[in-house]
Amino acid sequence: MLQRDMVSDISVKIRTLAEEKNAVILAHNYQIPEVQDVADIVGDSLELARAAAERREGVIVFCGVDFMAETAAILSPEKIVLLPAPDAHCPMAGMITGGEVRTLRERFPDAAVVAYVNTTAEVKAESDICCTSANALKVVESLDETQVIMLPDRNLARYIARFTTKEILPWEGYCYVHDRMNSEDVRRARADHPDAELLVHPECRPEVIDAADFVFSTSGMVRHICTSDRSEFIIGTEPGIIHQIEKRCSGKKAYPLSSEAICVNMKKTGLKKVIRSLESLTPRVIVPDEVAVRARVAIERMLHI
Ligand code: 13P
Ligand code: SF4
Repeated sequence: MLQRDMVSDISVKIRTLAEEKNAVILAHNYQIPEVQDVADIVGDSLELARAAAERREGVIVFCGVDFMAETAAILSPEKIVLLPAPDAHCPMAGMITGGEVRTLRERFPDAAVVAYVNTTAEVKAESDICCTSANALKVVESLDETQVIMLPDRNLARYIARFTTKEILPWEGYCYVHDRMNSEDVRRARADHPDAELLVHPECRPEVIDAADFVFSTSGMVRHICTSDRSEFIIGTEPGIIHQIEKRCSGKKAYPLSSEAICVNMKKTGLKKVIRSLESLTPRVIVPDEVAVRARVAIERMLHI
């Protein structure tokens, strides 16, 4: 952990370097507080994908995990996309391969394939359209097909199936951070904070979703809390988001549903890595053209909805 003075010195240096290098710093809501504080934009996967496509800077420093930086590189092949922690991998994104998607297409030739953005570029390239936790239902409802394969997250797929008449075929992947939260965590948190509203992420298990007051993407939670009349909230997602809630929603109190639900990969980016990355313009994320061209179709189709 860095001392407060040191954090402030490094942060000033990062902002100066970002200016010099014409770089924008994007950070996911689960990043450590000092990385969130130095970023130009902090948000959920959808907001960060949109920012990557729309910002004019020639360099994108992605403080998040690999699939997010890959998505930015696919959308903006002319830009330099940096992932300061190149080992920041989302295990759920590794739970399905492009070959497995091709096999699914053979088995279900009439089904549309919706890939969560938490997938590799190769999987996106084999899919019809992408979705995030913020737009999954809209994406599914936008399709002509009545049968829809949703991959890789079984929990998101089963959550969406509650709201659509389409037949949803889930892949059996999951996020180890969200899938570990259970009814016992809910019981304990409700007993500790009886006046709090329970907000959970759609990557949570059905039993947790059933017990929740609302289900939101990470930024959806922040927006809901900032505009709510309530003052206390239990947060069923990675607790890194509590920093954004405290910063943006004054007077509101947020408690983690489980303090053990930490995404270790989201914590691999620190200020020193960001500074090294800006100085050297490495490690760079490059998606081979033949994959990027096909993956871009699926991502852009989502962004147009
Ligand atoms: P959001 O798009 O809701 O920020 O979720 C991203 C993620 O990785 C959740 O685990
Ligand atoms: Fe992947 Fe889960 Fe971490 Fe999100 S919280 S990046 S889905 S492992």
